[in-house]
Amino acid sequence: MCEISEKLEKAKEYICKRAGIKPAVGIVLGSGLGNFAERAEIVSEIPYEDIPCFPRSTVEGHKGRFVFGKIGNTPVVIMQGRVHYYEGYPMEDVIMPARIMGLLGIKTLLLTNAAGGVNKGFSAGDLMLIKDHISCFVPNPLIGKNLSELGTRFPDMSEVYDRELSGRIKACAESLGTELKEGIYCQLTGPSYETPAEIKMLSVLGADAVGMSTAVEAIAARHMGVRVCGISLITNMAAGISEVPLSHEEVKEAADKAEVKFGALVERFIAGLSE
Ligand code: HPA
Repeated sequence: MCEISEKLEKAKEYICKRAGIKPAVGIVLGSGLGNFAERAEIVSEIPYEDIPCFPRSTVEGHKGRFVFGKIGNTPVVIMQGRVHYYEGYPMEDVIMPARIMGLLGIKTLLLTNAAGGVNKGFSAGDLMLIKDHISCFVPNPLIGKNLSELGTRFPDMSEVYDRELSGRIKACAESLGTELKEGIYCQLTGPSYETPAEIKMLSVLGADAVGMSTAVEAIAARHMGVRVCGISLITNMAAGISEVPLSHEEVKEAADKAEVKFGALVERFIAGLSE
């Protein structure tokens, strides 16, 4: 087994050879939002399975590749499909893609996900700007020897989701006439959905949405000094708030329905970063 830094170096070297463009912005696409890459002027596509030492996504509906290209004039790397902790990977593998994007030179990372609505003011289909997160129900992804070439041992997390970038996202939503909720995202491990009691607890703790990704990637990116922003698509109201049992099909269906409004918002935001 290679050391983490060795794995990162090998994967980065391989990707650099095939990418054909130096990305300034990374975009992670959540469940069912994978078609967003069609909006890019694509330069190259690298399936995760081709990349040495790289984890593979096993979730249905996740394509599993990096797409390099341009959105407007902004050079981007898009992660079509992410790796989740519940798939059984160690946390160091879960955050490896985020770290690689950092090593490829991105300055900004946009994280997107599908999430359950905890805030009773939300409805399925809403978009939520992530203002902050609660990650303490999952292992901290920086546990272990600190990779000092990436960042400091005790990184500050007082503003994970960059205020200026968040302001730009809000302005884009407004200009498109798209309603954008705001709130706190809580990451749990999954893969089972929550119980109504757990959702009640999360609500008391101040969470507005719940999901199974994102916060650990945000931590890894901030460790490296990458600016982070995030948008959740509320695909369903969480257990106990919704009367009906939850299913992955429902999540995918809602994600498909919101794809156009979500895609338009992300496209405008990303293109605007180089204007
Ligand atoms: N809970 C956790 N993760 C989710 C949900 C949910 O209700 N919906 C989409 N991802």
